[in-house]
Amino acid sequence: MSLRSRITGTGSYAPETVLTNSDLEKKVDTSDEWITERTGIKERRIAKSSETTSDLCLEASKNALQAAGLKAWELDLIIVATMSGDMPMPSTASLLQKKLGAKNAGAFDLNAACSGFLYGLSAADNFIKGGAVKRILLVGAEVMSKFIDWKDRSTCVLFGDGAGAVTLEPSRGKRGVLSTHLYSDGSMWDFICLPGGGSQHPPSSKTIKNKMHCIKMKGNETFKVAVRTLEKLVVDTLKKNKVKPSELSMLIPHQANLRIIKATAERLDLPMSKVAVNLHRYGNTSSASIPLALDEVVRAGRIKKDDYILLEAFGAGLTWASALIRW
Ligand code: ACO
Repeated sequence: MSLRSRITGTGSYAPETVLTNSDLEKKVDTSDEWITERTGIKERRIAKSSETTSDLCLEASKNALQAAGLKAWELDLIIVATMSGDMPMPSTASLLQKKLGAKNAGAFDLNAACSGFLYGLSAADNFIKGGAVKRILLVGAEVMSKFIDWKDRSTCVLFGDGAGAVTLEPSRGKRGVLSTHLYSDGSMWDFICLPGGGSQHPPSSKTIKNKMHCIKMKGNETFKVAVRTLEKLVVDTLKKNKVKPSELSMLIPHQANLRIIKATAERLDLPMSKVAVNLHRYGNTSSASIPLALDEVVRAGRIKKDDYILLEAFGAGLTWASALIRW
């Protein structure tokens, strides 16, 4: 029987403070009606000024470890998918390793923006299948609110803060991660970017003045590519595994825009009752969105043993990715 990786525990965490569309109406020229119609978002969570990405990771990770019945010292590897880590160096994964007391674990971050969790899932799956490690903690976490221009209505209404975590362990048999699929097209890098603070534009008074440490997005151009790409991606992922859309129990999409989610579900002829949606409560939490939604459906008992679960994401890079799981 083939060796697979299997998700054995899930957890999530979102900061307490809620920022509603009505709150945003007071900050920028927008309306609850516009945000709801164009995105499906009603509110998002915002971290305290003292709260960091690794703090969010810690809470989500504790929940995932408890669900898996694992102790932190039993972990071999910690992967954090994030584009809003505590600092450029060291990795947020190392900071989490210390906070958890996971003294036997290696740790690294990866950045594939909103596709980050699925890139991490693919990495973790291959580490386990290759036999290099046995117990992995994978976290998707973002404090997007600290990288937003709160005067830019085209981005500030979209993003929120949160974290989701899973534990992965080896498993023999039909259950587990069946396949992962990773793609990128860097020619569209400027569709979504945070241009300042790196080696191209090191921090300076100019980068601060021009708000280059804030997310810039060509929303409409991104939207069109996302719909086209994700429709093909979900169909291809099922075909590669010889699974029919009607056999799917749950689609867990990246939570960027309800119109994108609905278009993807329609392409599979999937009723919305089989789609995990929580962006009305959290907005786009980038790499945290899929593990946050996954944890919610798991804890609500909406996924059962042997169910086929399809995960998909699209984000900056551009990057896109999918995974099919037999739960
Ligand atoms: N409130 C009111 N009006 C607004 C707002 C706002 N918050 N934001 C933009 N508008 C206006 C625009 O100025 C424009 O006005 P104009 O026609 O007078 O020029 C009009 O609304 C339409 O703007 P569009 O950008 O064309 O609106 P669209 O329907 O495309 O919706 C959105 C914008 C929600 C951003 C959508 O394009 C989208 O979801 N894009 C995809 C985002 C995505 O998937 N990103 C990937 C992940 S992100 C990551 O990886 C970090």
